[in-house]
Amino acid sequence: MKRRILITLTILSMPFILGLAITYEVLQVDFLSFMEEQPSVNYREGPRLLPPDGAIPITGVEVPPDGSLPLNPVPATDASIARGKVLYEIHCAVCHGKSGQGDGPVAKYFQSPAPEVSALTDDRIVRHEDGLIYLIITQGFQGMAPMAENLTPQERWDVVNYIRVLQNEN
Ligand code: HEC
Repeated sequence: MKRRILITLTILSMPFILGLAITYEVLQVDFLSFMEEQPSVNYREGPRLLPPDGAIPITGVEVPPDGSLPLNPVPATDASIARGKVLYEIHCAVCHGKSGQGDGPVAKYFQSPAPEVSALTDDRIVRHEDGLIYLIITQGFQGMAPMAENLTPQERWDVVNYIRVLQNEN
């Protein structure tokens, strides 16, 4: 009788003992349950899902796909101009100068054969539409690097609004 109980208990406890042995890796069973052993895609590694055709980033269209100039969606309020001034002085003034004359401290390094830094107060640039200045900030222009990484679309329009003020002052 006693032997029977012992055998029954041993048989019943087998799964439990097996489970413990596997948990504590006495028995090493490769279940492929380790996090590092899964298909994973690293940053900037393919395959990538492309956005569906015609998808628009939630921040809105940055550059119209048909090549037309974007329209300024940010009204030139005092707040926008004040933000634009701060951003202009951080991101543009080093080259274009505080008052937009193209005489910032870095401008002297842009000498021939490199392009000269444009004076933003030139009539030619006063005639630029807001959208063109926006595109120049976004995509760069010949000798000027794109600044899209530094400024969000809204901030670029604030800078455009501020440049209009600079142009009226000078
Ligand atoms: C590192 C220097 C540098 C910085 C910073 C810089 N620019 Fe320029 N920018 C240039 C140079 C150089 C040119 C002339 C490019 C050429 O003619 O090839 C230029 C040209 C321009 C033009 C005139 C393009 C034309 O039609 O002649 C505009 C407008 C302009 N920049 C706006 C900006 C604004 C706005 C910012 C700040 C968000 C900015 N730039 C920051 C160097 C700079």
